[in-house]
Amino acid sequence: MIDYSNPKLVVETSKIEPGKIAWRSPSNIALIKYWGKHGRQLPSNPSISFTLNHAFTETTLEYSPKMGADEGIDLDFLFHKEENPAFREKIVKFLESIQDIFPFLRQLHLKIRSANSFPHSAGIASSASSMSALALCLCSLEAELFGTLESDEEFHKKVSYIARLGSGSACRSIYTHLGLWGKSSIAENSSDEYAVEYSDVNDIYKSFQDSILIVSGKEKSVSSRAGHALMDNNVFSKPRFEQARSRLSRIADHLRTGDLEAFGTIVEDEALTLHALMMASSPSYLLMEPNSLEIINAVRRFRKENNLPVYFTLDAGPNIHLLYPGYIREKVLRFMEDELLPFCEESKWIDDHVGIGPVELELE
Ligand code: PMV
Repeated sequence: MIDYSNPKLVVETSKIEPGKIAWRSPSNIALIKYWGKHGRQLPSNPSISFTLNHAFTETTLEYSPKMGADEGIDLDFLFHKEENPAFREKIVKFLESIQDIFPFLRQLHLKIRSANSFPHSAGIASSASSMSALALCLCSLEAELFGTLESDEEFHKKVSYIARLGSGSACRSIYTHLGLWGKSSIAENSSDEYAVEYSDVNDIYKSFQDSILIVSGKEKSVSSRAGHALMDNNVFSKPRFEQARSRLSRIADHLRTGDLEAFGTIVEDEALTLHALMMASSPSYLLMEPNSLEIINAVRRFRKENNLPVYFTLDAGPNIHLLYPGYIREKVLRFMEDELLPFCEESKWIDDHVGIGPVELELE
C-alpha cells in the first residue's frame, strides 16, 4: 500500500507568497463499470473508461498564508461564482480527511472557485470532473511549495490517488483517451490505489463520440455512495466482480484489434448489468426511466437496420451515452434528431467525444 502521509510537508508561513493555480479536468464514461467498493475507496473490481472532453470542471485554487492560530481548514468556496454551503462543507470534510497527506493545507487560507461546463440540471455526475480538478490543484500546489512530484508519472500517480479518495471514478479522468483503475492482468502497472493511462488501443477509438442524451436532469433517488454500499449484501456481488474482470480482459482484446461489434456488445452488457444490480439490491431501486428504454430499443433497431457501429451505455442514472466512431457522426446525428431527442428532456443532449485529459489553465 502507498503511504502518502508526510509530516514534513509544512511551510514557513512568513516565506509564502500568495498564489493561484487552475485546472480544467474532464468527466469520463466507464466501459467496464466500478460498482462496489471496500476499505478506503478501493474498488471491488477493475474498471476502464473513455476520458471525455466537453463535460469538464474548471477549478481555481488561491492560497495565502493563514493569519491566526486556528488549526482547521480555512476555506472560501464559490460554485459558479456563488456561495454554496453544501458543496463547501463537502470539500472541507475532504480536505480534512487528507491532512496527513497535505499538512500544509491547514497553514493556508484557501479560496476555491469551481464551475462546470455542463448545466447542473443536466443529470451529469460532476464528481469525476470536479474531484480530479481539485486533486490536480492540490498536487500542483504541493509541487509549487516543495518542488516535489517532478516527473509526470509521480505527479499523475498522486493526483489519481487523491482524486480516488474524493470520488472513486474521478481517478480515471486525468489520462488521455482511456483510464484504467484497479489491479488487472491487462496492464502490469495497474493498481487499486490509482488509475493509469491505458494506451494499447486501436486509433478508431480515439475518434469516438459520446452523445449524452438527457432523459432526465433530476437528482438521483439513490446516490452512488448508497448504491456502492448496497453491493455489500447483493447476492450477485461475487459473480459480478468476477464477471467484470473477465469482461475487462476481453474488451482489452477488442480495444487493441478495433473489433467494434465485440466491443459494443460488452459495453452494452456492462450498462445493463449495472442497472440489473440496482434492481437486485435490497432494497431494490430503478434509475432508468421509460424513455431510457425507448432509446435503448431504438438504438438496437437502428444498428440492425443500418449495420452501423453505434452502442449505448449508462452511468448510475437514466441518461444514455451513445458511443460511436467519428466517421458515422452525420448519420447518427440525423437518427438522434429524428428518433431519440423526442425522448429527451426538452430535447437536451451534450455533444462530447473522447479527449486528451486535463489542462492547466493560464492565469493572468
Ligand atoms: O465514483 P462514484 O462513486 O460516483 O461511482 C461511479 C460509478 C459509475 O459511474 C456507475 C461507474 C463508473 O465506473 O464510473
